[in-house]
Amino acid sequence: MPLVPANDFISWKERQISKGGDHQSLDHLIDSVGGCTKEKYHLIKLSLKKNIELKVNLEKLESLWNQHLNMGIPVQYLSGISYWRDLKLEVSENVLIPRSETELIIEIVQESFKQKFKEITFVDLGTGSGAIGIALALAKPFWNGIATDIDKNAIQIASKNFARCSDKSNLKFLCGHWWNPLEKFKGKIDLAIANPPYIPKYIYQKLPEEVKNFEPKIALLGGDDGLDHIKIIIRNAPKYLKKGGYLLIENHFDQGREVKKLFLENAFISVKVLKDFSGIERFTIGRYNQK
Ligand SMILES: C[S@@+](CC[C@H](N)C(=O)[O-])C[C@H]1O[C@@H](n2cnc3c(N)ncnc32)[C@H](O)[C@@H]1O
Repeated sequence: MPLVPANDFISWKERQISKGGDHQSLDHLIDSVGGCTKEKYHLIKLSLKKNIELKVNLEKLESLWNQHLNMGIPVQYLSGISYWRDLKLEVSENVLIPRSETELIIEIVQESFKQKFKEITFVDLGTGSGAIGIALALAKPFWNGIATDIDKNAIQIASKNFARCSDKSNLKFLCGHWWNPLEKFKGKIDLAIANPPYIPKYIYQKLPEEVKNFEPKIALLGGDDGLDHIKIIIRNAPKYLKKGGYLLIENHFDQGREVKKLFLENAFISVKVLKDFSGIERFTIGRYNQK
């Protein structure tokens, strides 16, 4: 493991940030590839450490940083790691980098299910890296979850991520189109969560290159108005949810009203549009009220 004098490392880092980019991205690379956390770096700056032991040499780190700056490759794909809530997840260009605005989904679920020891069946539709399903399976060891995705590479990454985070088996992984892999759970699901592709086509075309060139289109694009997948999920939910079961969907900032209408047209009651930390109407939740 390369041992680097503290002063050399500090001036190397200053040189890198002077080339461009943001501190958060550089810190991500130094931590996830170099093995030096922000806390360790702080101690170096306080002169409490003379040398720093890195997992790779500075040339390797610099070459990754240059790829980020010159080609726009997100640092999470360069390192193969993304942090989400308290999870460290493997990511590749087959899965979306899980977003911080989605983190609140876990609190919304916990707020809706307060009975501590109730066993429930939940599904995470379009699991990607597995972020939502894994966070819930870890927080609720009594719950049984199924995480699905249309992309078999995503399913592979998500199930590896779960195996790395947990020694339990309360989350299973199935590949297929939205509800299709859940045939044998018809009428048995207490909670379904989806963060589907919901970006309208005209907005997708204007997304930053860093997103458009590297993140999977299939994870982002939701058709002309962004609602193609949301409609499929809501319209089919009644076949799979129990009476009183919850459906929770993340949507684009301007879709709350339309998504609420779709819930109401499909036998959902107590439908609420909830805001994220930035005050954006980001989530819609409702209960299936079977007739
Ligand atoms: C916005 S990403 C969300 C990923 C992850 N749940 C998260 O929050 O980070 C949408 C996910 O839906 C998946 N997906 C797209 N079309 C699908 C379909 N027809 N059926 C199932 N999953 C689909 C994508 O592969 C992608 O992983």
